[in-house]
Amino acid sequence: MVEKNPEPVIRVENLTKVFSSGVFFRQYTTAVQDVSFEMRPGTILSLIGESGSGKTTIGRLILKLLRPTAGQIYFHGREISTLRGKAELREYYRRVQGVFQDPFSSFNPLFRVDRVFDMVYDVFLPAVKDREARTREVLRSVNLNPDRVLHQFPHQLSGGQLQRLLIARALLLNAEILVADELISMLDASTRMGILNLLVDICRDTGMSVLFITHDLALGYYISDYTMIMHQGRLVEQGATAEVYHNPIHPYTRMLFRSVPDIGQRWDPKEKFVPEQVSSEIAEFYANNRGRGLMEVETNHKVLMSIE
Ligand SMILES: Nc1ncnc2c1ncn2[C@@H]1O[C@H](COP(=O)(O)OP(=O)(O)O)[C@@H](O)[C@H]1O
Ligand SMILES: [Mg+2]
Repeated sequence: MVEKNPEPVIRVENLTKVFSSGVFFRQYTTAVQDVSFEMRPGTILSLIGESGSGKTTIGRLILKLLRPTAGQIYFHGREISTLRGKAELREYYRRVQGVFQDPFSSFNPLFRVDRVFDMVYDVFLPAVKDREARTREVLRSVNLNPDRVLHQFPHQLSGGQLQRLLIARALLLNAEILVADELISMLDASTRMGILNLLVDICRDTGMSVLFITHDLALGYYISDYTMIMHQGRLVEQGATAEVYHNPIHPYTRMLFRSVPDIGQRWDPKEKFVPEQVSSEIAEFYANNRGRGLMEVETNHKVLMSIE
């Protein structure tokens, strides 16, 4: 059961990540800039933006695979950089799980599936006695046939099956947060819908929350309760999915909708997406709204009106 107005599981405040690279001439890339949001139990939050906008970096910061340059990430109110010692960190890595675009890279090619699950028990759930029965149950709950997959090697399984295995792993661990980064982009259409519906069911039934990272607006609309639109490291618009999709305000969000013919406004082929035009539209928008910053334009709907 999901409470009506529960405390957020994850709260991100003013998160910034700057990468530096180059040995002699240091180059700095601000991948994520001043990003704030919350994840509530049992909800799906989409993070939508074009390639290079900083989506994966946010996912990796939440998974604690990267360290923020500035800002905080709270998990049940505890700032995650203050987690200390093996036990606390292991607990975090158990409760916050990731599934990535390329599921093959998440598996050791030499280990059969049953061995993969055994290691999960060894590391995270050593007290569990009925391992095989539990594994079979969780595999069935993601619509995998245990007899078909348990004794296979990763290369003998499809991308869709491997992603289901990772979701099963998160379920077994009783994860509270699943970071799903371009989860289904490599799957065919029918497998996709199966996995999307599975995620929706899991959130509703277990209270798990999903950060659903995608560049696909239509997928975001289909699956998410809340939506965040990311552009060049910043969240330019965020809120309840219905608000953001039916009343987009930031010029970047509006441009995204214009470039998708089947949702939102009527498709006008004259309004093609021209990157230079979008940059100048955004600059003009910020100039016209100087001083407003991140504004709550209606309940559950915030827009970055200006950057100062
Ligand atoms: N490890 C890294 N070192 C240097 N730059 C990085 C690193 N990871 C990501 N970046 C840069 O940060 C920006 C955001 O990348 P990323 O978060 O992967 O975007 P997205 O997932 O939206 O495509 C890009 O400019 C990318 O080149
Ligand atoms: Mg990415």
